[in-house]
Amino acid sequence: MSTELESELHKAVDSRRNFAIISHPDAGKTTLTEKLLLYGGAIHEAGAVKARRAQRKATSDWMAMEQQRGISITSTVLQFDYQDCQINLLDTPGHQDFSEDTYRTLAAADNAVMLIDVAKGLEPQTRKLFEVCKLRGIPIFTFVNKLDRPGREPLELLDEIEQELGLVTYAVNWPIGMGDRFKGVYDRKEQQIHLFERSAHGSREAVDTVVDLGDARIEELLEQDLYYQLKNDIELLEGVGPELDLELVHQGKMTPVFFGSAMTNFGVELFLKDFLEYALKPGPHNSTVGEVTPIYPEFSGFVFKLQANMDPKHRDRVAFIRVCTGKFEKDMTVSHARTGKTIRLSRPQKLFAQERESIDVAYAGDVIGLNNPGVFAIGDTIYTGQKLEYEGIPYFSPELFAVLRNPNPSKFKQFQKGVSELREEGAVQIMYSVDEAKRDPILAAVGQLQFEVVQFRLQNEYGVETLLELLPYSVARWVEGGWEALNKIGRVFNTTTVKDSMGRPVLLFRNEWNCNQLQEDHPELKLSSIAPVV
Ligand code: G4P
Repeated sequence: MSTELESELHKAVDSRRNFAIISHPDAGKTTLTEKLLLYGGAIHEAGAVKARRAQRKATSDWMAMEQQRGISITSTVLQFDYQDCQINLLDTPGHQDFSEDTYRTLAAADNAVMLIDVAKGLEPQTRKLFEVCKLRGIPIFTFVNKLDRPGREPLELLDEIEQELGLVTYAVNWPIGMGDRFKGVYDRKEQQIHLFERSAHGSREAVDTVVDLGDARIEELLEQDLYYQLKNDIELLEGVGPELDLELVHQGKMTPVFFGSAMTNFGVELFLKDFLEYALKPGPHNSTVGEVTPIYPEFSGFVFKLQANMDPKHRDRVAFIRVCTGKFEKDMTVSHARTGKTIRLSRPQKLFAQERESIDVAYAGDVIGLNNPGVFAIGDTIYTGQKLEYEGIPYFSPELFAVLRNPNPSKFKQFQKGVSELREEGAVQIMYSVDEAKRDPILAAVGQLQFEVVQFRLQNEYGVETLLELLPYSVARWVEGGWEALNKIGRVFNTTTVKDSMGRPVLLFRNEWNCNQLQEDHPELKLSSIAPVV
C-alpha cells in the first residue's frame, strides 16, 4: 500500500464514529437527533429535521400511507462533524410499527445509543433492539432523557438496566434535581457541575455555566437540599460503583450512562463529547477471507438496506452500503460477490435527512446510497481486489404472520414476481406451508407496517390486489440441524411447521408459553429466534 493511502485511511478511520439510536417511540429520538445535529453545526435551528421530513413527504409517493399515518417508514443516514470527528448517525424508524429495516440498520452500526425516558425506564421496543445489539456485541451508551420532567430515581433506573439487560452501568454524569428543579448535571470525570439555563424549546445551544465541585458558590447556586443530595449520590457512586472500563464498554458489557434533557439541550453536548471519546471507531469485519481491517487498501462493503421508489419521478431503488474497508471513489468499478458481475458505481449518494447529495469519496464507517436497478440484495458484498464476502445479515424473528392471497388468477405471474422481488429486497420474510396443496405464501414480519407496505406495493408496482388473512402465531423458531433434527423427535404439539424461503423448517407458536413447553419436552431440540446466516 502506498504510504499516502495508508495514512489517509488511518486518518479517516480514526476520525469516524458510527452509531444508531435505539429507543421506544416518544423517548425523544427525533429531538435528540436534532440537537446532535445542532451541536454538529449541520443545522442551525432545531426543527429542521422535522421540517425536512415534512418537505420530503410532499415529494415522495412513499407514500400516501406515510402521510396518512404521520410516520416515518424509511431510515436515513445523517452525517455531521463535531470537533475532529466525522459522525454517521444511522437513523431508524421510530414508530411502533417498526420493521426489519430497523434491525438491519443495527447490523451496519458500530455503536448504539440507548435512549430512555426517565419516567418510563426500559420499554418493549428498546428491549428488542437491545437484544439485536447484544447479539452483535456492540457498545451501548445510555442517555436518560426528559430530566426536565418528573421521573424515576436515577439509581433505580441504573438498577433496572443492570437487572433486566445484564449490563454493568457506569454513570458518566449525574443529574442535579429533576422536573422543574432540574438544574444540570455533574460531570464525574472533570468533577465539575454544569448548570444550564432553559432556552425556548432548546432551539439554540444551551447556556452552560461550569463550576468546580469545590467552588464556594455552589451552595448558593444550587438549592441546599439539591446540593446535599448530589454530595450523597456522588459519595455513593464513587464508593460502591464500578470504575469505567472501556474494554468492557467496547465488548458491550458495560454501558456508560448520561442524563439530560434533549428538548432543553441540557447535557446533550457533554454527552456528545464523551460519547465520541469512548465510542468504537470502525473496526474489523468477518469475511470469507477472515477478519478484514478497515484500513485494508481495497474497497469493500455490504448492502444492509434497500429502499424502493424514494423518488416517484424516477421509480428508482437505492441500496445502502456500509463501507467496511478502503476508500470508495465515485465512478469506481467493483465486483459483486454473489453474482460475480462487475459494476460501475456511477451515481453514489450521501443521504442527509432524506435529501440526496452526491458524494465523491467515502471510507470505512460511512454509508453510501447506490442506485440499484435490481442488482443488489440485502447482505450482498461489493469489493475491489481479491474476492471476499461478508457474513450475511440474519433474518430476524418475525412476530406477525399472514397468508397472502391473490384472488385473481389472471394476475398469477405478476403476483409471483412481486412477492419474490419484495422478498429479495427484504421488505418481508416469506414462508410456505409444508402442505404442497397450500401454495399461498405466508408473510412473516416484525411489524404490521411491513404487511401494509407489501400490499401497497403489489398493487402500485405490480398491479395486483391481494387479500391478507392473519394467522394466530406470534413466535417463530428456526430448528438447528434442520429437517433431520426435527424429524428425529417425531410429532410435535401446539406448533405449526412451515418452511422459510430457503426450505428450512420453522416452527410457529401461538405464544412463548407453547414454545417453552416444546423446549421442556424436547431439550435436545435447539431452537433459534434468528435464522442462521448462510
Ligand atoms: P421519538 O422520535 O423518539 O418518537 O420522540 P420525539 O423526539 O418526537 O419526542 C416525543 C415527544 O417528547 C415530543 O413531544 C418531544 O418534544 C418530547 N421530548 C423529547 N425530548 C424531551 C425532553 O428532554 N423533555 C421533555 N419534556 N420532552 C421531550 P410532542 O409533544 O409529542 O411533540 P412536539 O409538540 O414537541 O413536537
